Amino acid sequence: MVQVAVRPYRPGDAAELGKTYYELYDERDVGELVGITLFTDRPAPEDEKVWYETQYARAQREEMIFLVAEVDGHIVGSCTVGMVGPSESSEQAHVAELGILVDRRMRGKGVGSALLEAALEAARAKFEVVYLSVFTFNVGAQRLYERFGFTVCGVLPRAVKRGGHYFDLVRMARVFDRTPSPPGPTVKHP
Ligand SMILES: CC(C)(COP(=O)(O)OP(=O)(O)OC[C@H]1O[C@@H](n2cnc3c(N)ncnc32)[C@H](O)[C@@H]1OP(=O)(O)O)[C@@H](O)C(=O)NCCC(=O)NCCS
Repeated sequence: MVQVAVRPYRPGDAAELGKTYYELYDERDVGELVGITLFTDRPAPEDEKVWYETQYARAQREEMIFLVAEVDGHIVGSCTVGMVGPSESSEQAHVAELGILVDRRMRGKGVGSALLEAALEAARAKFEVVYLSVFTFNVGAQRLYERFGFTVCGVLPRAVKRGGHYFDLVRMARVFDRTPSPPGPTVKHP
C-alpha cells in the first residue's frame, strides 16, 4: 500500500491524467484486456481537453464529483461520479454514474480503494444511487466494488464491440438508502 492523497480535480491535472488515459490505448494495442470502454481510435488531444473542461464545469455546478489521487506529488488516478439526469430538476437527479481509472504502475496498491472511499462518501451526501458498468472479465474490479457495497443488477450482453469481439458488461449499483421504496402508482393498461 502507498500513501495516497485524494482531492478534487483541478484543471492543471489534465495533462497527467490524460497520459494515464492514453496508456489504456497502448495496453489495448498489445492485446491486454483493458477494463474500460474506449474509442475505436484514440481521441485527439483537443477532444480530451474539451472532455476535462466539461467534467470540471460539471463539478463546479455540483453535478459531478471529480476526484484525483496523488502519490508523491503525481496524479495517479481519478474517479468521477456524475449525475445521470441532465439537471437538478430531472427525475434522475438522484442517480449518478461512477468511472474510475488508476495508472497502470500504481494498480493493486490501494489507490482505487482510497478514491472509492472518498468518492462514495461525497456521493452519499449528493445522490441516492450510484451505478457503474464493469466488463465481465474484470472480476478483480467487481470484487473491489462489492467491498464498497455495490451489488450486481444484471448483465448487458454484447455491450462493447472491440476489434470485432463482443464483450458483456456487468451493471452494478450502490444504493445508499436501503429502506424499501414505497409502491409506485398502478399502471392501467388500456
Ligand atoms: C480497477 C482499478 C480502478 C482498481 O484500482 P486499484 O488501485 O488497482 O485498486 P486497489 O489497489 O485499491 O484494490 C485492489 C483490488 O482491485 C482489483 N483490481 C482490478 N483490476 C486490477 C488491476 N488491473 N491491477 C491490480 N488490481 C486490480 C484487485 O483484484 C484487488 O482486489 P483483490 O484484493 O480482491 O484481488 C484499477 O485497477 C484500474 O484502473 N484498472 C484498469 C481500468 C479499469 O479496469 N477500471 C475499472 C472500470 S469499471
